[in-house]
Amino acid sequence: MKIRKAVIPAAGLGTRVLPASKAMPKEMLPIVDKPAIQYIVEEAAKSGIEEILIITSRGKTTVEDHFDRSPELEERLLKSGKQDVYDQMVSISSLANICYVRQKETKGLGHAILCAKSFVGSEPFAVLYGDDVIIGENPVCKQLCEAYEEHGLGVVGIKEVTPEQIKKYSSMKLSPLSGRQFMITDMVEKPATMEETFSLYSILGRCVLPPEIFGILERIPYGVGGELQLTDAMKELARDKGMVGVDFEGRRYDMGSKLGILEAIVEIGLGHPEVGEAFRAYLKGLSL
Ligand code: UTP
Repeated sequence: MKIRKAVIPAAGLGTRVLPASKAMPKEMLPIVDKPAIQYIVEEAAKSGIEEILIITSRGKTTVEDHFDRSPELEERLLKSGKQDVYDQMVSISSLANICYVRQKETKGLGHAILCAKSFVGSEPFAVLYGDDVIIGENPVCKQLCEAYEEHGLGVVGIKEVTPEQIKKYSSMKLSPLSGRQFMITDMVEKPATMEETFSLYSILGRCVLPPEIFGILERIPYGVGGELQLTDAMKELARDKGMVGVDFEGRRYDMGSKLGILEAIVEIGLGHPEVGEAFRAYLKGLSL
C-alpha cells in the first residue's frame, strides 16, 4: 500500500536548546536560511507524501505562518523585481497539503502521535520527527516507505550510536534481514543499564507505522519520564509481528541539541550555493 500521509510532531518544549526555544519553536531554528521544519516537509514531499499533519502547541504559530502565503511580502518582492525570491516564497506554501492539530499538553511523543488518529484514519503513515533534519540523495522517508511497501510491517529508521547516547535514545533487538534492513523483535526506551541494552542500534527520527499503533497507544501506560512513549507502543508491534529497521543513508542533524544545530549550520553552510565558498574561506581564516 502506498504511503500518502505523514505526521510531523513539533509540539515539544525543546528544553535542551533553551533559551533559543523559549519563544521560538526549535523546529523553526534556521539552518543558514531555511527553518529546520522546511527541510523535513521537503523530504516528505520528495518521498511522495501528499498530506501532512504537523502537531503543534502553544507558541508555535510561526510554523503555520511559514507554510502559508504571505500576500504583503509577495507583493513587495514582485514590485521590487525579485521574481526568484517571490517564486521561492510561493513554492513553500505549495510543497504539500498541510494541516495542523494542537497537542494540548506536552505528554510525550506517543501522546503527540495519538493526536493524529483522525487525520490518519485506517492507512499506514510516515512519522518525521520535527527536530531531526536528515540530508541525503535518497530521502530517508522514501527509503522507509519502500521498506513498508516491501514487507507490510512497521518500519523504523535506525543508526548505531555510542554507549553514552543509547541511554538517552532507544535500543533495538535485531537480526540482519538483507542489505541495510534488519528484523526487529523487541526494543527498549532509554535503557538505564548496559544489561537492559539490546544493541547500539537506535531509532533516529523517522518511522512508518500501521494504523494499529493508535489502539496500542490508547491502552499502554505512561512510561519513562512520565511521558506516553512511542517506543513502548512500537515494542508491542515488534514483539507481535516484528518491525523492519532500515539503517538509512543520509546525514542526520539533531536540531533539538546545541551541538546538532552547530553541525547542521557548518556542514550545510559549507555546501550552500550562495555563501558556501565565502564561509569556507572564513573558517580557514580562523586557523583553529
Ligand atoms: P524530543 O523529545 O526530542 O522533544 O521529541 P522535546 O520534548 O522538545 O525535547 P527536550 O528534551 O525538551 O529538549 C522529538 C520530537 O517530538 C516532538 C518534539 O517537538 C520533537 O520534534 N514532541 C515531543 C511532541 O510533539 N510532543 C511531545 O509531547 C514531545
